[in-house]
Amino acid sequence: MRIAQVISAADAATLRAELAAADWQDGRVSAGSQAATVKRNRQLPAGPLAQRVQTQVLAALERQPLFLSAALPLRIFPPHINRYGVGEHYGDHVDSAVRLLANGTRLRTDLSATLFLSEPEDYDGGELIVEQGNGIKLAAGDLVLYPATQVHRVTPVTRGERLAAFFWVQSLVRSNEQRRLLFELDMSILALRQRLGEDEETLRLMAVYHQLLQQWSQT
Ligand code: NI
Repeated sequence: MRIAQVISAADAATLRAELAAADWQDGRVSAGSQAATVKRNRQLPAGPLAQRVQTQVLAALERQPLFLSAALPLRIFPPHINRYGVGEHYGDHVDSAVRLLANGTRLRTDLSATLFLSEPEDYDGGELIVEQGNGIKLAAGDLVLYPATQVHRVTPVTRGERLAAFFWVQSLVRSNEQRRLLFELDMSILALRQRLGEDEETLRLMAVYHQLLQQWSQT
């Protein structure tokens, strides 16, 4: 699932300029033991800049109706920033099913997300590949969401550098299939309301949507 312009291209450019001056740490600090053996990239360490980026990205997500409908977020792991220079990559791995948050609570990683910050023409390679799918390389500010249990990798960067924010979502609806059905229903109701205006049938469909969400959500 791709969501265009979660942040604007201009905001992404401003972030890139700020990140150019940052210090970076080895990306393996946040990887599990299998992932650490295949991870070769750098990560923005905790600090004022990282915190500001987190606040900005989280606020943008809260304003993004497509993201809210597709992910049905209960909790979002604060976004981290990574950087792949020439020769850096991240081999096949799965993300840990549960992550520890700074406040000591745990988050189940139902969805993985990458928010691209570099423009695709500014680097070669650096494609995200989920399972056997095609390489994903989106415009700066665009987001891709995929089930965290899927095997994925980032191919080696061969020119330029790739900056991205990544995070995980614990969804109200744990099942990928149920979440996908709710998203399709929500989008169809939205289209019907735009075409037909408010009427009794669309209201009934909305009631069905909310009853299903109530049945299937876990808080
Ligand atoms: Ni991953």
